[in-house]
Amino acid sequence: MHYSTNAFLFDLDGVIVNTDRYHYLGWKKLADEQGWAFDEEVNDACRGVPRMASLEVILRHNGVTLPEDQKHALASRKNAYYVELLQGIGEADVIPGAVAFLQQARALDLKTALCSSSKNAPLVLSNLGLEPYFDTVVTGHDIERAKPDPQIFLLAAERLGERSEACIVFEDAPSGVQGALAAGMRCFGIGSPEFLPQATWTARDFLQLDAQALSHRATV
Ligand code: BG6
Ligand code: MG
Repeated sequence: MHYSTNAFLFDLDGVIVNTDRYHYLGWKKLADEQGWAFDEEVNDACRGVPRMASLEVILRHNGVTLPEDQKHALASRKNAYYVELLQGIGEADVIPGAVAFLQQARALDLKTALCSSSKNAPLVLSNLGLEPYFDTVVTGHDIERAKPDPQIFLLAAERLGERSEACIVFEDAPSGVQGALAAGMRCFGIGSPEFLPQATWTARDFLQLDAQALSHRATV
């Protein structure tokens, strides 16, 4: 099957910027303070997962149950650590080839959207001066249902005035890949095919990707 592609939809953390590392460090600091186990594998289960739901993943992993108010306080503490780490981010944190790929997409008149569950996404974009690369920005502030629900991708497509079939999503999280497919879109996994087996295609980063070739590529 051959589709014509009019829009690229990008996740942020782990796709455009390596902020997935800083989310890890934020949770790790909190977990260490609380005496909880937290490692790369638990972090992988938190990729693309909203703040409170990520905390639930960590609590479940440690067999801990807490009242709501304490959970909110802990999630706020992790967020404060994360926001502090964001103060130091710069060009070196951008995923290899991502900006050149965005520039190529713009030059080809492809529409672009940012689709991030993070409520800090606007801050990350402004710290790095990346806002001009996106026609629309959809974040955790705009949605009620998190990935793997397709809501964030469908809302982005609606804002861009495009049908799902004309969109390709770039994602590093299994929940994001599932959300993209549930939205009826093709999904380029940024990561390994072992971690993202459902993705239509995968690549480690954007260095090998050509926006023009991809916009003409069939699903198989
Ligand atoms: C996603 C990240 O993009 O945003 C998750 O992959 C994170 O790790 C989620 O939990 C929510 O982010 P924030 O910044 O609103 O806590
Ligand atoms: Mg991500």
